[in-house]
Amino acid sequence: ATPSIQLSSGHSIPALGLGTWLSKPGEVGQAVDMALKAGYRHIDCAHAYGNQKEIGEVFAKVFDGQLERSDVFITSKIWNTFHSYEKAKEAVDIILGELQLDYVDLMLIHWPMGYEEGGELFPRTADGAKMRYSKEDYLDTWKALEDAVNDGKIRSLGLSNFNHKQIERLIGHSRIKPTVLQVELHPYFQQKKLRDFCKKHHIVVIAYSPLGNPTNPFRKTGDPSILTDEVVLKIAERYGKSPAQVALRWATQNGIVVIPKSTSEHRIKENGALFDFELSHGELAEIDGLDKNWRILDLTQRDGDHPHFPFLEEF
Ligand code: A2P
Repeated sequence: ATPSIQLSSGHSIPALGLGTWLSKPGEVGQAVDMALKAGYRHIDCAHAYGNQKEIGEVFAKVFDGQLERSDVFITSKIWNTFHSYEKAKEAVDIILGELQLDYVDLMLIHWPMGYEEGGELFPRTADGAKMRYSKEDYLDTWKALEDAVNDGKIRSLGLSNFNHKQIERLIGHSRIKPTVLQVELHPYFQQKKLRDFCKKHHIVVIAYSPLGNPTNPFRKTGDPSILTDEVVLKIAERYGKSPAQVALRWATQNGIVVIPKSTSEHRIKENGALFDFELSHGELAEIDGLDKNWRILDLTQRDGDHPHFPFLEEF
């Protein structure tokens, strides 16, 4: 069974979940269904992924007799075009409607940057190079989420893609503290300082792109690949496991929650079979040594001059 990690809210989160970013319509529902059948009890969703309705149809079906709602930990995220207090409240209801749920276990602010509200999710500038920004403050977004917790619509709150300064600012201005931080994290981008910072603040780290997202559209040809890394391959061979399983196990043994995305039944099962082997201290240290401080999802070109863009002031 998948181990769980205690959150500061008193709830707990399964250490493995299914990611759904870039899971295509027509495939994502089946992937969620296969994951639940394979024993996953944590599904990571977001409004901006554009596929929540199909996931909601699967939830409606499985919670009608196959599983209890309380068996599954479900996350979603408030998108950048919903950062004002009013819009954020609206977004919570849109998300619950799409997912066909009375509550989500975890709601994150997807990014600290606000985009122009009220229209399309990706409001690009005329030349298409950037987004049209809003000046909304994520502290207002957070207030709406705190109120939604009081209304029973959300169990725990968290952040995604925030830097340590933004997290500190939010902690200083909030009633309910963030329980998690979801960021890109894998053996080539280990985020050690940010992880230490989170530990100090009782924030659990969730790794997105834990495999280094082998098919990410932001990757460039010639980019390094964790799944063919010699060190990872050598360790994988020793246990009769795949490189993906070794990368994911390295994270979970470091107390990090992983949400690998897959829509293939074989790989969903593979990524779920993590808890029947354990890497040694020496092997963990070897993987620690692979860090290249290499971020895939950079976005500096597109969003870098937004006043709340996180990555320029990262540790
Ligand atoms: P697919 O959906 O065809 O399985 P990440 O979670 O790091 O962003 O990586 C997701 C990508 O990695 C997806 O393209 C997914 O493709 C692929 N993937 C997922 N699991 C595995 C695995 N066990 N081995 C190889 N590739 C995988």
